[in-house]
Amino acid sequence: MKVLAFGTSNSKNSINKKLAFYAAQQINNADVSLIDIDDFEMPIYSEDREKESGIPQLAHDFYKAIGSADSIVMSFAEYNGSYTSAYKNLFDWTSRIDMKVFQNKPVIMLSTSPGPSGAQSVLAAAQASAPYFAANVINAISLPSFFDNFDVNKGVVTDETFNQNLLTAISKL
Ligand SMILES: Cc1cc2nc3c(=O)[nH]c(=O)nc-3n(C[C@H](O)[C@H](O)[C@H](O)COP(=O)(O)O)c2cc1C
Repeated sequence: MKVLAFGTSNSKNSINKKLAFYAAQQINNADVSLIDIDDFEMPIYSEDREKESGIPQLAHDFYKAIGSADSIVMSFAEYNGSYTSAYKNLFDWTSRIDMKVFQNKPVIMLSTSPGPSGAQSVLAAAQASAPYFAANVINAISLPSFFDNFDVNKGVVTDETFNQNLLTAISKL
């Protein structure tokens, strides 16, 4: 199974990228493609820019990466209760190719932050809007207090509730 994994952050040390990679690796026989959304940086979306120059190639590349995957594991970073601007910009451009950004793929949505909320606000927003963007959300799972619940040296989640919920989600793929 081809699994596309990414964190919705352009931070070099993104904890959400680490979490997405860990989760994707738990899928049996997964061929995991871990991408960095920093490699998809484009000018800030504007309708004027789109009219003048069209949709950048990087948005097409991201759309194709989703289209060629069998399933998606993504983990949401939360900035001020919402999406990072890096992800929102990538998402806005991609949605101009096709509003069905997720192309009916099964998606495991995750989120984490260093604090106890575990970026639940952005995760809830992403889950609520998923049907408009043709995401078949298998489950949405937040990992609170990342540095208490993730062994950074081993790259594994140590919180058993999260791991159980993740395995249940994976079994539905
Ligand atoms: C501008 C900014 C806003 C943030 N707002 C939130 C927030 O609303 N909720 C939260 O849980 N963490 C917030 N944080 C902390 C992030 O969760 C933390 O930086 C985390 O490492 C981001 O995920 P990443 O490492 O995958 O980029 C914020 C960080 C920044 C830089």
